[in-house]
Amino acid sequence: MPSAKVMSVEQEDSFELPSKIPLIKTTIPGEKSKKILAEQKELETSTVIYPKSFPIAIKRAQDSVIEDEDGNYFIDWVTGISVLNLGHSNLIRNAISTQLSKVWHTLEVPSETRVEFMKELRKSFPANMKNYKTMFGITGADACETAINLAHTVSGIRASTVAFEGAYHGVHGGVITATAGRAYKAPVFSGGMSIIRAPYPYEMWYDYDTSDTLGFLEKVVNDSEAGYEKPDSLIVEPIQGEGGYIVPPDGFLKALREFCDKNDVIMIIDEVQTGLGRTGKMWGFEWDSIKPDIVCISKSIGGGIPLSVVYYREDYDSKLPTPFHLGTYRGNALALAAGTAVLKEIPKYLDRVRSEGSDLQKRFERIGSPLIADVRGRGFMIGIELAENQKPVSKTKMLSMKHTMLSKGLMMHTCGHFGNVFRFMGALNIPSEYLRTGVGIFGESLGS
Ligand SMILES: Cc1ncc(COP(=O)(O)O)c(C=O)c1O
Repeated sequence: MPSAKVMSVEQEDSFELPSKIPLIKTTIPGEKSKKILAEQKELETSTVIYPKSFPIAIKRAQDSVIEDEDGNYFIDWVTGISVLNLGHSNLIRNAISTQLSKVWHTLEVPSETRVEFMKELRKSFPANMKNYKTMFGITGADACETAINLAHTVSGIRASTVAFEGAYHGVHGGVITATAGRAYKAPVFSGGMSIIRAPYPYEMWYDYDTSDTLGFLEKVVNDSEAGYEKPDSLIVEPIQGEGGYIVPPDGFLKALREFCDKNDVIMIIDEVQTGLGRTGKMWGFEWDSIKPDIVCISKSIGGGIPLSVVYYREDYDSKLPTPFHLGTYRGNALALAAGTAVLKEIPKYLDRVRSEGSDLQKRFERIGSPLIADVRGRGFMIGIELAENQKPVSKTKMLSMKHTMLSKGLMMHTCGHFGNVFRFMGALNIPSEYLRTGVGIFGESLGS
C-alpha cells in the first residue's frame, strides 16, 4: 500500500495573528467581501440567514479570531453557534488531519477511532450513566427526532411527547413539530409526531414558575377530560438556547425528573447546545444532579464536523428493532477523531468557564445601560436581554447593533422569542483579554 503522508496542518494552516485584536482596516464589508457576498447572492438560495447578520467573507480562523478576505480580524463570540467550544483550534485540525491520512468514511464498520470515541464519551458522563449506549446521527435535529422515536419505540405506545414553549430542537422532518417558532414550522409538513406544548418558566415576560409547569403536566396526565393524550416522553433543554438563553429556576429539571418517574414518562435531555462544557459543567443536566433516560448531543461533539449522538439507557437497547435509525453518514471518522480530542480537552476548562462566566455576567451588568433588562446564564452561555418602554427591543434595532459590533470587530449573535437577546457563546479557551475587549465593544454599540 502506498504510504499516506500526514499533512502538517500546524505548519501549513496556522497563521500569525496581529498583536492587536480586533483589527479593522476597512469599512464592513470590505471590497473583497462585498464581491464574494454578491456572488453568494447570485448562486445560493436567498434564504441564507447568517450572512445577513455577519456580512463578511471569511478567509480563515485561528482559535477565537476570524480573519475576513479584506484583512480584518474579528473576535469570535459565535463559535458557529456553540459548535466550536474549543475555537478554531489546532488540536482539532491535527486530529482531523491525522484521521484523514487513514480513512474518513466507513459506514458503521468499526475502527479504533469509533470505539475510542465511544469510550471517551462514556467517561464524560456521571458514574450512574456509564453503561448507556451510543447511537450516531449527523445533526442536532436528527438526534432529537431519533430520541423521540426511540422513546416511542421503547414505551411501545407511540404516544405524545411533552416539549416546552420557546424550545428549539431543530428543523428536521418530524421534530419540527417540537420546535416552537411558527416561522420554522410553516414550510414543513410534519406528520406523525404528537407534541404537548408545556409552559416554560420565563420570568422576564411570563409569570410562570416551576409549579405552573408541574400543575399543567399533572393536568395533562390526570385529567382525562382535559383533552390531552397521555405523554410517554418529555424533551427539555437544561437552558433554553434559541429560545433566549433562558435559565430555568434551580430544581426545575429535578421536578421534571420526579414527574417523569411518577408517571412513567421517558426523560429526554437536549444537550445539543448546553453540552460539552458550555455551561461550566460537562453536561447541563449536571447542574440539577439528575439522571436523564436519553441525552441528545451534537454541535461541539464533532469539533465542527457534523456529528450527533443519542446516548440512551442500556436497558432500552433490547427493545429496539434493527434497522432503527438509518443514515449513510452517521459516525463519520473525521468527526469521531475530532470528537475524541474535544472530549479529552474540555474538562480542563470547566472551572475556568464557571468562574470567568460569572465574572463576565457582572461585567455585562456593570455596563449599566437602560436597554439591558436582564443578564442571565451559566458558564459561557450568557444572554443579555434588551427592552425599552417595557417591550422587547425590535429585531431591526438588534440587527443594527449587531452590525455596529461587527464594524468594531466583535461577532456576536442574537436569539430569543422576540429576537431581542444578545448571546455570548465564546470558546471555552478564549483569551480573557478578548472577553474584556468584547464587553467594551458591546457596551459602546448598545443603542446604535
Ligand atoms: C438545543 C438544540 N437542539 C437541537 C438543535 C438542532 O441542531 P441542528 O441545527 O444541528 O439540527 C439546536 C440547534 O441550534 C439546538 O440549539
